[in-house]
Amino acid sequence: MEILKTKKTLQDFIERQKEMGKRIGFAPTMGALHNGHLSLYKAAREENDLVISSIFVNPTQFNNLEDLEKYPRDTQKDISILEKSGLVDAVYLPQVEDIYPEKTESKKYDYDGLENEMEGKSRPGHFDGVGTVVEELFRQVQPNNAYFGEKDFQQLAIIKKMTEKKHLPVTIKGIPIYRAENGLALSSRNQRLTEERRNESKIIFETLEKTKEWFKNLSVSEIKKKVKDVFEHQNNMELEYFLIADEHTLKEISQKEEGKSYRAFIVVNVDDVRLIDNMHLE
Ligand code: PAF
Repeated sequence: MEILKTKKTLQDFIERQKEMGKRIGFAPTMGALHNGHLSLYKAAREENDLVISSIFVNPTQFNNLEDLEKYPRDTQKDISILEKSGLVDAVYLPQVEDIYPEKTESKKYDYDGLENEMEGKSRPGHFDGVGTVVEELFRQVQPNNAYFGEKDFQQLAIIKKMTEKKHLPVTIKGIPIYRAENGLALSSRNQRLTEERRNESKIIFETLEKTKEWFKNLSVSEIKKKVKDVFEHQNNMELEYFLIADEHTLKEISQKEEGKSYRAFIVVNVDDVRLIDNMHLE
């Protein structure tokens, strides 16, 4: 596996691959790699000649300095995971100045309102930071296909929108959430949970599964009340939000309508770790 530590080495590498006509699959990450990331690489492996990943903890998408500081970082461990997986041909490890040559700040994006829902309300500026880093990485890596997990469903929708609006020649692929055996959605942040809390957190998945059933017969407000009740009885968890939204506009709904598709979205704080999950509702 090639380890590309600067923009220049990446550019030389990409140039050679493009000359050989290679189709590039790309999965950007912030490291702390887990099986969820490996599922992105597996999908990329099947559909491209070459798989590239990046590891870069993007400062502009954190709206909380403490969260940025606490974000798990272990590049050596990540590299050995990548090497052992045999799924990735090259990893790009940019420095801040490779992404932000002038000021370390976000550009402003208009994602047709997708940015004003859910995480956009809870984390102001977050999606400008995501758009800035992903657009820059796409321009540098020049992938044919790029892979993102559906765990961050709003991020996936926003990246699709940004790519479309900027006319970037890359196809965005959403990959289903990779779950632990107990149903907990895999996330780099899970590393900060004790084993006990990780076990308890399966209630998030179980509640989404129940929501799927409830959605068949109950009203949206009845479901919201039930979910609120579940978390009121959990000692170490605080429900930040639960809502049901139109899968395309991401706008919260209060009533279902025929012919639309919906998804439940949830954020729960377990100790000081923010866990996010979602599920498509039939
Ligand atoms: O999902 C992530 O890990 C990050 O938001 C991403 C897409 C790598 C951008 O920093």
